[in-house]
Amino acid sequence: MKAELILYNIEELVTSREIIEKKDSSNMENIELLKNGYLAINQGKIIEVGSGSYPEALVDKNTKMVDLKNKTVIPGIVDSHTHLVHGGSRENELTMKIKGVPYLEILKSGGGILSTVIATRKATEKELVEKSLKILDRMAEYGVTTVESKSGYGLDLETELKQLEVNKIINETHSLDVVSTFMGAHAIPTEFKGNKEGYIQELMKMMEVVKEKKLAEFCDIFCEDAVFTVEDSRRILMAAKDKGFKLKIHADEIVSLGGAELGAELGCISADHLMAISDLGIQKLKEKKIIANILPSTSFNLGKTYAPVRKMIDEGVEIAISSDYNPGSSPCENIGIAMAISCCGIRMTPLEIIKAVTINGAKSLCLEDKIGSLEVGKDADFVVFDKPNLEYIFYNFGVNNVEEVYKRGIKIVENGRKI
Ligand code: NIG
Ligand code: FE
Repeated sequence: MKAELILYNIEELVTSREIIEKKDSSNMENIELLKNGYLAINQGKIIEVGSGSYPEALVDKNTKMVDLKNKTVIPGIVDSHTHLVHGGSRENELTMKIKGVPYLEILKSGGGILSTVIATRKATEKELVEKSLKILDRMAEYGVTTVESKSGYGLDLETELKQLEVNKIINETHSLDVVSTFMGAHAIPTEFKGNKEGYIQELMKMMEVVKEKKLAEFCDIFCEDAVFTVEDSRRILMAAKDKGFKLKIHADEIVSLGGAELGAELGCISADHLMAISDLGIQKLKEKKIIANILPSTSFNLGKTYAPVRKMIDEGVEIAISSDYNPGSSPCENIGIAMAISCCGIRMTPLEIIKAVTINGAKSLCLEDKIGSLEVGKDADFVVFDKPNLEYIFYNFGVNNVEEVYKRGIKIVENGRKI
């Protein structure tokens, strides 16, 4: 087979292929980094990858050749936890939060998630689509090629469906892929205040419709103090599993409730946040091979301690990192910020972070056979940085060094701008 596109002379090419036997590194550093690499692509798929000179047999007169001297390439970033589709914004809460009003207090008083619910109910589908497409453009400029997007700012059937329809539309119209998650269990809506059981009944009905309309692949829940208890979460997630959803859980974000343990018990694909995870929770994630999805921008923004990532890595837990982009706890669509915090704040190494945002991001969306690493047969999703090595990208924090992004072999970002 001839290549349509060959990128060669790549100074450092992180393929994110997992190397089973890699000495002297953590389970999170066991990915491949090639010096002087090349990538050959045909019909949006990778047909060869390696280091040194590319095989001449791949080239014919139609092959486009790209010299990437002094550049670094990584797989397209998978942002596997976002609340992308929402109306309004919540900058009005910033000073309050800085002055110490707790996140859950703001929520209890009808602000927080509930104020975004009002704005999202008011917004038209068209407005939400336009806003979300712009955000996806910006995410792409930071190197993201696949995004997960949750509902959960509707909390009624009509608006939850509207958010999920928006997921479908943006997935079809934008060059990025969008994976859809139903998260009706994000808060108790005002109209059910004092009647959580009533809302849980409503959730069960919504789930049915979402499944019937095939609008979401995953179901997620905010298992948290004053939101959904471990018992509520078990009940709701078990019902979702019965209906054929894959599961995720917002676990031990603020209070250590045992959300990670529940995630392991139910076989969630990922348990997310985990700032307050217990030692038992860590053991359970490891045992059941659940991905710990860490959201460092959220901890940073809420002024909380980071999840005990080093401890989790030492125990052998696989880590993903996501932006948690949302209007409250992480109003930042720049995955580079989450990566910078992971490095300087959490003390993860560049290789660990790349693994977390590529192959492990893909695993948290059950897409590891298709994306997340640059291996033969996978989609040609990758990011070109205008820097000669991976370390530079992390060392030069706060700067977007993304030059180009390719989605299925097509350039979608050029000179750092979405095209
Ligand atoms: O993941 N924790 C719950 N949900 C979001 C925040 C949503 C919001 O504040 O609007 C999160 O942090
Ligand atoms: Fe979240």
